[in-house]
Amino acid sequence: MVAHKAIHFYLLTPLLLQILKIHAKVPAIIVFGDSSVDAGNNNQISTILKSNFQPYGRDFNGGQPTGRFSNGRIPTDFISEAMGIKPIIPAYLDPTYDIKDFATGVCFASAGTGYDNATSDVLSVIPLWKELEYYKEYQNELRDYLGNDKANEVLSEALYLISIGTNDFLENYYVIPGRSSEFSIEEYQNFLVGIAGDFITALYQLGARKVSIGGLPPMGCLPLERTMNILYGSGCIEEYNDVAKNFNKKLQGLVAKLKMELGVQLVLSNVYDILSEMIQKPNSFGFEDAATACCGTGLFEMGYLCDKLINPFTCSDASKYVFWDSFHPTEKSNAIIADHVLKTSLAQFLM
Ligand SMILES: *[C@@H]1O[C@H](CO)[C@@H](O)[C@H](O)[C@H]1NC(C)=O
Repeated sequence: MVAHKAIHFYLLTPLLLQILKIHAKVPAIIVFGDSSVDAGNNNQISTILKSNFQPYGRDFNGGQPTGRFSNGRIPTDFISEAMGIKPIIPAYLDPTYDIKDFATGVCFASAGTGYDNATSDVLSVIPLWKELEYYKEYQNELRDYLGNDKANEVLSEALYLISIGTNDFLENYYVIPGRSSEFSIEEYQNFLVGIAGDFITALYQLGARKVSIGGLPPMGCLPLERTMNILYGSGCIEEYNDVAKNFNKKLQGLVAKLKMELGVQLVLSNVYDILSEMIQKPNSFGFEDAATACCGTGLFEMGYLCDKLINPFTCSDASKYVFWDSFHPTEKSNAIIADHVLKTSLAQFLM
């Protein structure tokens, strides 16, 4: 009798898991940001910042270059899968998907964009305010598709993931004259945090209740930045890492303030420490190289410079590398980053 019961329990477990998934608190994941989470929106706009060709996507579902800046999936895909929703989050502008697909997850992110309008201008990509306009359009489509009540329920129970900010510093402030003559680095950070606050508030006013804002990575350790530091031994640019840490502290302050003011479930997803650890101790994660990237020479290439047709040097096994191109992690790194935030900042949304 006891054995019989035990078998029953064992057989029921997958079914129970299935039921738990169906009743998961998060019915959809809605993504805003830059190339760290762009699933292919840039394929549909006029910009040179694209990745919809080989070797990008080499390890994505049998080798599909989707416009993700990696050899495979990006963190938001892994998060969606772990939450029992679906293994990839489609790009809103991708014409092969429609509202049926977007009802459980949609990505508005655009590679190369930033909090600052001047950042998205650099490479003619989608500014953050425009991502929000697309989101409003999506809300209307979702209401047509599901009906008002059901759509509003999905929109308020959905998890909103924001990952943006690196380009404001590395593509704009530190390389283009303009913002750096207008703002000190401290003032510029405050300017960006102000935009982040307005963005989260706008999302809240549109119905969002569960929001994660991503902190900056150790951006001085991206292979491209190390290459810029080549005269000083190709180490990380500590000045940029310090800015990232300082900015993350400011975001933490913003999160505390908005939680009080709005009563929104808002978390800061910190990727700085886990990525730092991977860079400092690559071997303990099974990586062999954390300083150079897999694509091309590993020193400076991304986007078209990685194109298989012009660059024969790309490594054969991306999983040995922390970085896929000079600016973006490999799929393996993305999985580790996703796992980390799922266990920390996002854990409260899994219950
Ligand atoms: C960015 O541009 C949009 C559209 O022109 C504008 O509404 C918004 O206020 C601008 N943001 C900032 C911070 O200047």
